[in-house]
Order: sequence, then structure tokens, then C-alpha cells
Amino acid sequence: MTAPTNITLAVTGASGSVYASEILRALAADDRVAKINFVASDSALRVFAEELNLSGRNNLAEKLLGAPCAKLQQHADTDIGANIASGSYPTSAMIVLPCSMGTLASIANGLAQNLIHRAADVCLKENRPLILCVRETPFNRIHLRNMQLASDAGATIFPAIPTLYNHPQSTTEMAREFVNRVLAHIGLPQPGAYQWQPDESL
Ligand SMILES: Cc1cc2nc3c(=O)[nH]c(=O)nc-3n(C[C@H](O)[C@H](O)[C@H](O)COP(=O)(O)O)c2cc1C
Repeated sequence: MTAPTNITLAVTGASGSVYASEILRALAADDRVAKINFVASDSALRVFAEELNLSGRNNLAEKLLGAPCAKLQQHADTDIGANIASGSYPTSAMIVLPCSMGTLASIANGLAQNLIHRAADVCLKENRPLILCVRETPFNRIHLRNMQLASDAGATIFPAIPTLYNHPQSTTEMAREFVNRVLAHIGLPQPGAYQWQPDESL
């Protein structure tokens, strides 16, 4: 598999800002990635304020990274004229992490009401990888139906459910390992990613 070089990262208003922060860090540090298009929904900003004590849309991605990043471009979720809104723009893959039930519903039903929905719609119509890291608990039947719809349309439902068998020592470590799994899934295996070693004595 050729490594994807042009990644769209969308962050929506589900719990799990730490995942967004960790995946952005990993993409920024990855030399195989030439470009990151970053877009956060309004609700994502609200959750960032709750969970990471970060406020405001201005330079949000840079605030998350703690430094400027030349390959990073942040878009307003209202800018439906942005590059990623067009199929002519060569997005390699799009990741929505975390993905709220609201955004899942919009994508699954083709509503394309903001840049995140539209960019996802474009990935589906162009047969490009679209990874929806959904987060809610419990799921109602509408959520389940929308996951089925999105999956049938070509998206990968990749729930934001961390692993514990790797014994993470912090939420950041837990999030990092989840991010490693997401990136490996799109052809960007990460150095230092946990690999299951069965204990033969058990
Ligand atoms: C602190 C906080 C946590 C939330 N967690 C979730 C969640 O885990 N999953 C979810 O679907 N919605 C969650 N919501 C609700 C969404 O933010 C809300 O439905 C919003 O309209 C989603 O908009 P968006 O999809 O445009 O980001 C949460 C809201 C807040 C304030």
C-alpha cells in the first residue's frame, strides 16, 4: 500500500479531544504526510474547552501542537469553498476523530451542511478512505442504522474504543495507541506502536 500523503482530519463535538490532539501530533511528525487539512466543528470547540481547557477557533491546530506546522492548513467548518470540498482536490484519506452522532447522521444521509459533511461526502463519492471514529454510549437504533448506512456507502466505522491489554499508564498513552491503530489502518504504521505478544504461559 502506498502511504497516504494528503490527510483531512476533522474533529467534531464528541468526547475525546485527547484523540484529536494525539492524531494531529502524529500526522505533523510523520514525514510521509505532506499535507494536513484540519477542520473542527463548533461543537468540537465546546468539547475542547471542557476537556483540554482550550478556547477559540483561531490557530486551534497550532495550539494543539504547541508550535506552527508548515504542512498544516486549518479551515472553518462553514467554508464549503475550501480545497477539501472538491473531488478535484487529491485528498488521500479523511479521518473524523472523534465523530459525533450528529456528524455521523449527516454523513450517512448525505446532508453536506458544513465542510466536514461535504468533505466526507466527497471521499465517499470518490471512493477514498473515510474513517469515522464514532463516540457515544449507549447507541440507539438511529445511531446503529446510521453506522450501517455509512458503512454501506464505503466509510469505515472505527469506534473510539481504546484497548487496555497494552496496559496504558495515562489517558494520553491510551489515546496514542488508539491513534496508532487508526493510522496503521490507512497505511501509516507508526514507530513504537504496540503489537500484541501473547503470553504463552496463560
Ligand atoms: C462535553 C460534551 C461531550 C459530548 N460528547 C458527545 C459524544 O461523545 N458523542 C456525541 O455524539 N455527542 C456528544 N456531545 C454532543 C454533541 O457535541 C452535539 O450533538 C453536537 O451538536 C454535535 O455537533 P457536530 O457533529 O457538528 O460536532 C457532547 C457535547 C458536549 C458539550
